[in-house]
Amino acid sequence: MTKILAIESSCDETAVAIIEDAKKILASVVATQIDVHKKYGGVIPEIASRIHIENISIVIQECLEKANLKIEDVDAIAFTQGPGLVGSLHVGVQAAKTLAWAFQKPLVPVHHIAGHIYANNLVTDMKFPLMALVVSGGHTELVYMKDEWSFEVVGTTQDDAIGEAFDKVGRVLNLPYPGGVYIDKLSAQGKNIYRLPKPKPEKELDFSFSGLKSGVLQFIKRCERNNETFTPEDLACSFQETAISCLLERADKALDQYDTRMLVLAGGVAANSCLRRRVQEMIADHHLDVECVIPPLSCCTDNAAMIGVAGTIAYEHGVRASADVTANPSLDIEA
Ligand code: KG4
Ligand code: ZN
Repeated sequence: MTKILAIESSCDETAVAIIEDAKKILASVVATQIDVHKKYGGVIPEIASRIHIENISIVIQECLEKANLKIEDVDAIAFTQGPGLVGSLHVGVQAAKTLAWAFQKPLVPVHHIAGHIYANNLVTDMKFPLMALVVSGGHTELVYMKDEWSFEVVGTTQDDAIGEAFDKVGRVLNLPYPGGVYIDKLSAQGKNIYRLPKPKPEKELDFSFSGLKSGVLQFIKRCERNNETFTPEDLACSFQETAISCLLERADKALDQYDTRMLVLAGGVAANSCLRRRVQEMIADHHLDVECVIPPLSCCTDNAAMIGVAGTIAYEHGVRASADVTANPSLDIEA
């Protein structure tokens, strides 16, 4: 049995988990900083790294206590090497290096997006070739995995990530930060009645969300200029439906072009109720031979269990970091 202790600190959650055989969560602790960053309407990197420093030892200790284990009991230490905020990543990397050195454990570097994708292994056995639709605050990508631990980015955003667009639209609708979940809730009471721009990048599998985001801003400004009112619920719903259509049109094309057994959702925006419903409709309508996996809500947003699962697969593939490893804010998943 392989037990991995994993550390995730790429943005504003200090998270530690212990995973057995890439399947079982023995313990998972997430200390979120959202309440602090909420006041500023976004993550302040300097504050994030300072809070990581305050939290990291406590979260490691709490996780070991919950699992009723000692560091001596784990086989390796996995950590998020990147991408993310450099100061935030640095705290997790240093903690992982210190534990590995002090307890003579192998160090396993993990790409944050590989973690989001492998969260699905907690739900089901992942089947390859696999297509992952990665949708988070920092990423919007189609990642094709021909085999276990092989990553090819076949589509990416040319501007904003989808989560970023949700959060910016949340801000103009005066919703708390991060706006994604509040737009999701507001949309449930609205109708898709406002026509918004749907940018189409030249590359068939790429995404673009900045035109849609600006479209919402201009719509609000136009209403103000003309002394017209609009229904926030309907605007939230129209934005959400348009954004999810942009995503799924590309995912649909990707499944046409690549031999795929399984489609998985990954990342914070995978918690979106409209995406979760409509991706199943798309599979039922066009790709009945593809198995569709949607992670439980608890595995969608940042956590260390996902880094532990990906870390176990990486460990089994012989991936190791040396003692002089550093955080890499622009780490490439294909490298
Ligand atoms: O994966 P994640 O926790 O962090 C990154 O790696 O970026 O994703 C956070 C993003 C935020 O933009 C947040 O607004 C979005 O996920 N999000 C949602 C929902 N829940 C979280 N977006 C739309 N609908 C939701 N229900
Ligand atoms: Zn993430």
